[in-house]
Amino acid sequence: MKEIKAIIQPFLVTRVVEALKQIEGLPGLTVDRDIRGFGKTQADESRYKIVDDLVEYVPKAKLEIVVPDELAEKVIQTIQTHAHTGNPGDGKIFVVEVAEVIKIRTGERGEKAI
Ligand SMILES: Nc1ncnc2c1ncn2[C@@H]1O[C@H](COP(=O)(O)OP(=O)(O)OP(=O)(O)O)[C@@H](O)[C@H]1O
Ligand SMILES: [Mg+2]
Repeated sequence: MKEIKAIIQPFLVTRVVEALKQIEGLPGLTVDRDIRGFGKTQADESRYKIVDDLVEYVPKAKLEIVVPDELAEKVIQTIQTHAHTGNPGDGKIFVVEVAEVIKIRTGERGEKAI
Protein backbone atom coordinates (compact mmCIF):
# COMPACT_ATOMS: atom_id res chain seq x y z
CA MET A 1 0.00 0.00 0.00
CA LYS A 2 1.19 3.49 -0.83
CA GLU A 3 0.22 6.93 0.38
CA ILE A 4 0.38 9.54 -2.35
CA LYS A 5 0.72 12.96 -0.83
CA ALA A 6 0.47 15.82 -3.29
CA ILE A 7 1.06 19.50 -2.64
CA ILE A 8 -0.67 21.40 -5.43
CA GLN A 9 -1.90 24.85 -6.41
CA PRO A 10 -5.18 25.56 -4.55
CA PHE A 11 -7.03 26.71 -7.67
CA LEU A 12 -6.44 23.31 -9.31
CA VAL A 13 -7.93 21.17 -6.52
CA THR A 14 -11.32 20.71 -8.16
CA ARG A 15 -9.80 19.82 -11.52
CA VAL A 16 -7.44 17.26 -9.93
CA VAL A 17 -10.10 15.72 -7.68
CA GLU A 18 -12.58 15.41 -10.56
CA ALA A 19 -9.92 13.58 -12.57
CA LEU A 20 -9.02 11.31 -9.65
CA LYS A 21 -12.68 10.37 -9.18
CA GLN A 22 -12.66 8.90 -12.70
CA ILE A 23 -10.09 6.26 -11.62
CA GLU A 24 -11.84 2.94 -11.20
CA GLY A 25 -11.26 1.51 -7.72
CA LEU A 26 -10.07 4.75 -6.12
CA PRO A 27 -10.91 4.05 -2.46
CA GLY A 28 -11.04 7.62 -1.16
CA LEU A 29 -9.01 10.72 -0.56
CA THR A 30 -8.36 13.48 1.94
CA VAL A 31 -8.01 17.10 0.94
CA ASP A 32 -6.83 20.18 2.77
CA ARG A 33 -7.33 23.31 0.70
CA ASP A 34 -5.67 25.60 3.21
CA ILE A 35 -2.05 24.78 3.89
CA ARG A 36 1.07 26.82 3.33
CA GLY A 37 4.69 26.11 2.69
CA PHE A 38 7.69 26.97 0.59
CA GLY A 39 9.89 25.22 -1.95
CA LYS A 40 13.22 26.11 -3.49
CA THR A 41 11.91 28.95 -5.66
CA GLN A 42 10.08 31.14 -3.20
CA ALA A 43 10.71 34.46 -4.95
CA ASP A 44 8.67 33.55 -8.06
CA GLU A 45 5.51 33.25 -6.02
CA SER A 46 6.04 36.39 -3.94
CA ARG A 47 2.76 38.01 -5.03
CA TYR A 48 0.84 35.35 -3.09
CA LYS A 49 3.06 35.21 -0.05
CA ILE A 50 1.87 35.05 3.56
CA VAL A 51 4.32 36.40 6.12
CA ASP A 52 4.08 34.71 9.49
CA ASP A 53 6.65 35.41 12.20
CA LEU A 54 9.09 36.68 9.54
CA VAL A 55 8.83 33.47 7.48
CA GLU A 56 7.36 33.77 3.98
CA TYR A 57 4.93 31.08 2.87
CA VAL A 58 2.81 30.45 -0.21
CA PRO A 59 -0.77 29.07 0.01
CA LYS A 60 -1.03 25.49 -1.22
CA ALA A 61 -3.47 22.57 -1.06
CA LYS A 62 -2.70 19.00 0.00
CA LEU A 63 -4.18 15.71 -1.22
CA GLU A 64 -3.59 12.43 0.62
CA ILE A 65 -4.58 9.20 -1.08
CA VAL A 66 -3.84 5.68 0.19
CA VAL A 67 -4.10 3.02 -2.52
CA PRO A 68 -3.06 -0.57 -3.25
CA ASP A 69 0.37 -0.63 -4.96
CA GLU A 70 -1.14 -1.36 -8.40
CA LEU A 71 -3.16 1.88 -8.38
CA ALA A 72 -0.29 4.15 -7.31
CA GLU A 73 1.13 4.93 -10.76
CA LYS A 74 -2.30 5.78 -12.17
CA VAL A 75 -2.95 8.21 -9.29
CA ILE A 76 0.49 9.80 -9.71
CA GLN A 77 0.01 10.25 -13.47
CA THR A 78 -3.43 11.77 -12.99
CA ILE A 79 -2.13 14.32 -10.48
CA GLN A 80 0.92 15.09 -12.62
CA THR A 81 -1.29 15.77 -15.64
CA HIS A 82 -4.04 17.80 -13.99
CA ALA A 83 -1.98 19.80 -11.48
CA HIS A 84 0.57 20.89 -14.09
CA THR A 85 0.77 24.46 -15.39
CA GLY A 86 4.50 24.55 -16.06
CA ASN A 87 5.01 27.53 -13.75
CA PRO A 88 7.06 27.57 -10.54
CA GLY A 89 4.98 26.51 -7.57
CA ASP A 90 3.12 23.66 -9.29
CA GLY A 91 4.01 21.51 -6.28
CA LYS A 92 5.27 18.00 -5.60
CA ILE A 93 4.07 14.45 -5.23
CA PHE A 94 5.50 12.36 -2.40
CA VAL A 95 5.01 8.58 -2.36
CA VAL A 96 5.19 6.87 1.02
CA GLU A 97 5.06 3.17 1.94
CA VAL A 98 2.08 2.49 4.24
CA ALA A 99 2.68 -0.10 6.97
CA GLU A 100 -0.91 -0.71 8.02
CA VAL A 101 -4.48 0.47 7.57
CA ILE A 102 -7.22 -0.21 10.12
CA LYS A 103 -10.85 0.48 9.32
CA ILE A 104 -12.33 1.75 12.55
CA ARG A 105 -15.92 0.57 11.99
CA THR A 106 -15.06 -3.08 11.28
CA GLY A 107 -11.56 -3.62 12.62
CA GLU A 108 -10.48 -4.89 9.18
CA ARG A 109 -6.81 -4.45 8.39
CA GLY A 110 -4.60 -4.17 5.33
CA GLU A 111 -5.79 -3.71 1.75
CA LYS A 112 -9.36 -4.66 2.52
CA ALA A 113 -9.51 -1.82 5.03
CA ILE A 114 -8.40 0.86 2.52
N1 LIG B 1 10.97 19.11 0.11
C1 LIG B 1 9.75 19.46 0.48
N2 LIG B 1 9.20 18.95 1.59
C2 LIG B 1 7.95 19.27 1.99
N3 LIG B 1 7.15 20.09 1.30
C3 LIG B 1 7.65 20.63 0.17
C4 LIG B 1 8.96 20.35 -0.30
N4 LIG B 1 9.15 21.02 -1.45
C5 LIG B 1 8.02 21.69 -1.69
N5 LIG B 1 7.13 21.46 -0.72
C6 LIG B 1 5.77 22.00 -0.65
O1 LIG B 1 5.31 22.15 -1.97
C7 LIG B 1 4.95 23.49 -2.21
C8 LIG B 1 5.25 23.83 -3.65
O2 LIG B 1 6.60 23.63 -3.88
P1 LIG B 1 7.18 24.18 -5.24
O3 LIG B 1 6.45 23.51 -6.36
O4 LIG B 1 7.19 25.68 -5.22
O5 LIG B 1 8.66 23.59 -5.14
P2 LIG B 1 9.95 24.19 -5.78
O6 LIG B 1 11.07 23.27 -5.37
O7 LIG B 1 10.08 25.63 -5.41
O8 LIG B 1 9.69 24.02 -7.35
P3 LIG B 1 9.30 25.12 -8.44
O9 LIG B 1 10.61 25.56 -9.02
O10 LIG B 1 8.45 24.40 -9.43
O11 LIG B 1 8.55 26.22 -7.75
C9 LIG B 1 5.71 24.28 -1.18
O12 LIG B 1 5.07 25.52 -0.91
C10 LIG B 1 5.68 23.36 0.01
O13 LIG B 1 4.41 23.45 0.64
MG1 LIG C 1 8.60 27.07 -5.84
